[in-house]
Amino acid sequence: LIADAEQLGYVDLVARLGARNLPPGGEAMLEDMLARLPSDPRLILDLGCNTGMVSARAAAARPRATVVGIDRSPAMIDVARRRHEALNLEFAELDVEGIGDAFDGVDAALCAGSAAFFPDRVAALASLDAALAVDGVLIDAHYVYDREVPPALRQLERSSFGIESPPSEAFDCLAPYERAGPPVRSYVRRPRWRLTERPTAPIYRELLASLPGMAPLVDEMLKRRELAHELSAYRHPVLVTAGRDTPTSVDGSAPDGHGVGEALAVMQLFRGSIAPQPVARLRSLRPYEFLAYVGDPDAAPGGAGAVTRAAAMLRELGLDDSASVLDVGCFTGMSTLALARSFPNVVGIDIEPAFVRVARSVGTTLRARARFEVMDGGDTRLPPRSRDAYVLTATLGYTPQPERLLAEASRIVRPGGFLVEFLYHYPVVTAAIEDRVRRAVGPDVRVSGLSTGVRAIERAGFRLVRADRLRRASAQPRFLAGVCSATTALERERNPELSERDLAEFADLFRSYVGRVDLGEAEPLVYMCVFEKAEPERKDRRGR
Ligand SMILES: C[S@@+](CC[C@H](N)C(=O)[O-])C[C@H]1O[C@@H](n2cnc3c(N)ncnc32)[C@H](O)[C@@H]1O
Repeated sequence: LIADAEQLGYVDLVARLGARNLPPGGEAMLEDMLARLPSDPRLILDLGCNTGMVSARAAAARPRATVVGIDRSPAMIDVARRRHEALNLEFAELDVEGIGDAFDGVDAALCAGSAAFFPDRVAALASLDAALAVDGVLIDAHYVYDREVPPALRQLERSSFGIESPPSEAFDCLAPYERAGPPVRSYVRRPRWRLTERPTAPIYRELLASLPGMAPLVDEMLKRRELAHELSAYRHPVLVTAGRDTPTSVDGSAPDGHGVGEALAVMQLFRGSIAPQPVARLRSLRPYEFLAYVGDPDAAPGGAGAVTRAAAMLRELGLDDSASVLDVGCFTGMSTLALARSFPNVVGIDIEPAFVRVARSVGTTLRARARFEVMDGGDTRLPPRSRDAYVLTATLGYTPQPERLLAEASRIVRPGGFLVEFLYHYPVVTAAIEDRVRRAVGPDVRVSGLSTGVRAIERAGFRLVRADRLRRASAQPRFLAGVCSATTALERERNPELSERDLAEFADLFRSYVGRVDLGEAEPLVYMCVFEKAEPERKDRRGR
């Protein structure tokens, strides 16, 4: 029997012991997962339900929903059925890759750490995507490894759990969602976590071990738990939610929120910062130079509202009033002004003196606390480890060598400090799309998926801790039409030299740059991403 216990796969061991399936991150993670369920779903799946604890909790949290726990192991399903009974709870023996054929209109799918055990995550996600309702959501708890697990420990992991932690460099948590959908909505990294037992656990364990034949199984489980404790130093629990947006009927507002009136008020601030220009000159400007001239109300993706959210997130992550924040690529200062409301010590920098002049004049008009400097974000001359946060608002797409900025960020941000960047995710990339985006945005913009952008930043020594999909990447038609006609009217007033034809051309330029590009189905998603500067690896760990 002892030999039998040692050879038992992890899944069978869990089933025989009827062990509870806590997700990575434990009870706190589970609470977070349940809190993200839609308020009144009809159908919830628990993917890889194990012995059914998470399914039962979901059934209790949403009593009006039907919850189906699915697992491909008959032993698990058997235990789950015997353990949990509720009117709205069912269990089914099914491979996740079969969900697409078996279900339809799934409002929420929970996956509490099981994805690591799926042989093909991409196929599993594709199958789920086919089963999800239009506004259905996947709530997926993982581990993400951020330091190299020593080979001996990896091997032990393989023999004990049947899976092996991926080398941290190669691991890409987000790529499978991109390859198979549904697209990521949010990413939250939680602190390192190790299971702490309830005070009663040893008593139950002793009782269980005293049953005939159970002692070797209990020992095996303890060994697995020890191993999980060792692994906890190398990984973080992460919660990813994914899903498409509910199509919205609202079309009257700009990205993430403000209306035409507010946008015009912002643009008014810019009047007089740059002298009127003939249309030939306006035509020759790079897209964002034109936007500086008109006073783009939404230069940062998602506008000032998204920057304010980034500031709130940095505060949640521990930065306070004293934090020294660098807003790199401040352009005409809108992002710096938004950051200044949370961080009085913010400095907006830009490589273009003309933009910094505009930013200073707007800042003075508004009596803002922000300071502005002409400075190259790739060569700031600031002391090493002297900054708490290096904020970019899509700036990596406006510089020919983004890696220079990332290397500089890595040098001047203190360990444990942060880097923020707004990353676009293009679901489809073709040469024609790349060309259109470059023409509308600028020559340095990278047209790629979210995970490519995340990887470039992680390679520079940062780790993703939060990603939040913004409501919309580009301006909506009605908003755009309103702002365009008002701005063209203002331009007629401030620049009487322009003919009617010039003004029509001005309006065209405005629409194509402020509205960005309309790519229909290939419309990019945009994410506010916060990264933490990795602590230098300590070399004193066991097994190194
Ligand atoms: C998308 S805009 C940023 C939007 C801006 N933060 C806002 O809220 O209005 C990108 C800016 O990055 C600036 N930039 C590009 N390369 C830079 C560098 N090496 N150092 C500093 N700024 C740079 C550009 O001049 C441009 O103003």
